[in-house]
Amino acid sequence: MRPIEESDLTENYQQWFNDEEVCKYNSHHRFPNYRQDMDQYYNDVIKSKNNLILAIIVTETDEHIGNISLQDINQIDKTAELAIVIGQKNYWGKGLGKEAAGLIVKHGFEQLNLNRIYCGTLADNVGMQKLAESIGFKKEGVRRQCLYKNGNYQDGFDYGLLRSDYGK
Ligand SMILES: CC(C)(COP(=O)(O)OP(=O)(O)OC[C@H]1O[C@@H](n2cnc3c(N)ncnc32)[C@H](O)[C@@H]1OP(=O)(O)O)[C@@H](O)C(=O)NCCC(=O)NCCS
Repeated sequence: MRPIEESDLTENYQQWFNDEEVCKYNSHHRFPNYRQDMDQYYNDVIKSKNNLILAIIVTETDEHIGNISLQDINQIDKTAELAIVIGQKNYWGKGLGKEAAGLIVKHGFEQLNLNRIYCGTLADNVGMQKLAESIGFKKEGVRRQCLYKNGNYQDGFDYGLLRSDYGK
């Protein structure tokens, strides 16, 4: 994992958020993701001190396959939200999401002095639920019909991980 660089802003990266399958469980793929959206996002990312966004890179090939972030870092409450997208679908299910999430969570607790990291996902997103649970997140609640996606209002699951529970 490393900072996003200007050279990462490729058409391939742009298309992750125009891909129905990649966006099946998130709020993208409603309006097109334009090149300008990506440039704007990058310009915000490099200035931000309350959003840590990193590129996930395959070491062997130097390929940018996804992004992972701790966003909305709250310096008073010591909280942040974990978000992840692996846009290169051929890398799904190989343990990379879990590895990246484990590393950024460690950084959040040990370097950013966070006390609580949370994430949310749709009830149908079994992969993200398993990923969260495998690194210690506990399911905390259900947000009923929080997102309209794929023709239905869908429930979302909230997960949280406290520093006091981390690594147990
Ligand atoms: C969800 C996502 C981040 C998972 O990353 P990944 O690298 O594919 O997942 P991993 O290979 O690290 O697997 C983590 C765990 O989930 C399980 N898993 C992964 N995908 C799964 C699937 N589709 N169905 C069931 N289990 C799955 C793995 O078996 C593993 O479980 P284990 O720890 O018990 O062995 C990735 O598929 C993705 O980016 N999807 C599109 C965007 C998205 O949905 N992001 C999350 C939005 S909240």
